Amino acid sequence: MLILTLESSCDETSAAVIKDGRVLSNAVASQIPIHARYGGVVPELASRNHIRDIHPVIDQAIAGAGITLEQIDGYAVTCGPGLVGSLLVGVETAKGLAFAYDRPCVGLNHLEGHLTTVLLDLDEVDSPEFPYIGMIVSGGHTDIYIVHALGQYTLLGRTRDDAAGEAFDKVAKMLGIPYPGGAEIDRLAANGNPKAIKFPRPMAHHDNLDFSFSGLKTAVMQYTEAHGMPADDAALADLCASFQQAVVDVLLLKVMRAAKTHGIPRIVLSGGVACNRQLRKELREAGERDGVEVFIAPASLCTDNAAMLGAVAAHYLGQVDLDHFSAHDLKARGN
Ligand code: KG4
Ligand code: ZN
Repeated sequence: MLILTLESSCDETSAAVIKDGRVLSNAVASQIPIHARYGGVVPELASRNHIRDIHPVIDQAIAGAGITLEQIDGYAVTCGPGLVGSLLVGVETAKGLAFAYDRPCVGLNHLEGHLTTVLLDLDEVDSPEFPYIGMIVSGGHTDIYIVHALGQYTLLGRTRDDAAGEAFDKVAKMLGIPYPGGAEIDRLAANGNPKAIKFPRPMAHHDNLDFSFSGLKTAVMQYTEAHGMPADDAALADLCASFQQAVVDVLLLKVMRAAKTHGIPRIVLSGGVACNRQLRKELREAGERDGVEVFIAPASLCTDNAAMLGAVAAHYLGQVDLDHFSAHDLKARGN
């Protein structure tokens, strides 16, 4: 089955072609340079740029897979959560294609895509067995789930305020690093001492699987108010490394606790922050130490992209009753 997936929930416009769990192509048009000027995503600009980019990105995905649109057997699109104006572009485009080519079309949850990316047939990483612990760390979410099967999830814990990626981006902004600063903090931290500054590990001592990152962001602000902005590259690297280590420590503590408490020795890490090299390294080390298998998709499939929807797309398209199906029902949902 050839599936075209579309993702436009935030500031990436993406289309992918998936065949029997394999990613044949994955085209992504990022709007980062457009929003960087404003220090964050401007929803109105995001929608307009999705409209501009969606068809070129689909053309690129189709050409990259070496097929024609007529060959697509089914469509799948992110319906939420995300920015409604952005989601609408993907949803209406997918509906239009489904009508034009008389094919089924399913709406998907963005988080479900992140959680199940590693179920694709990828060269770089094996797929886990069910059930597994799935942690999503992105710009909008920091959630821990049990993934029992495709479509069956139990939420175990989540952030009570900022998401981990949001904390990275806000701290970066404080330090004058352009949006989105997560990847740049990762880069700068590589040359710093993670023990240089003692930042708090929020909620580490709470006996649950929830997170809180807004206090950590405030702690960084208070540190710069008390000591001034980093005077040189070495001081900046130390600050980035110390902040990053605080985030990594709580993420690791909670996800390893989830695996232990629920007796599930398999962890899947996903979402944009799953690109973070320190987090990837330490989670793998913790997994080896504690006998927990760790699965992390390649970085290009951790940040928002359409290929990440491939496994759930196939699952839900397989359930469609073609006699009673109408893509008319698909709607964008902000949350
Ligand atoms: O999953 P994603 O692309 O979009 C959402 O669904 O939110 O995640 C984007 C987030 C941003 O906050 C970005 O700063 C963060 O992922 N991010 C990183 C790294 N690469 C991206 N955070 C830390 N280290 C990285 N290497
Ligand atoms: Zn995402």
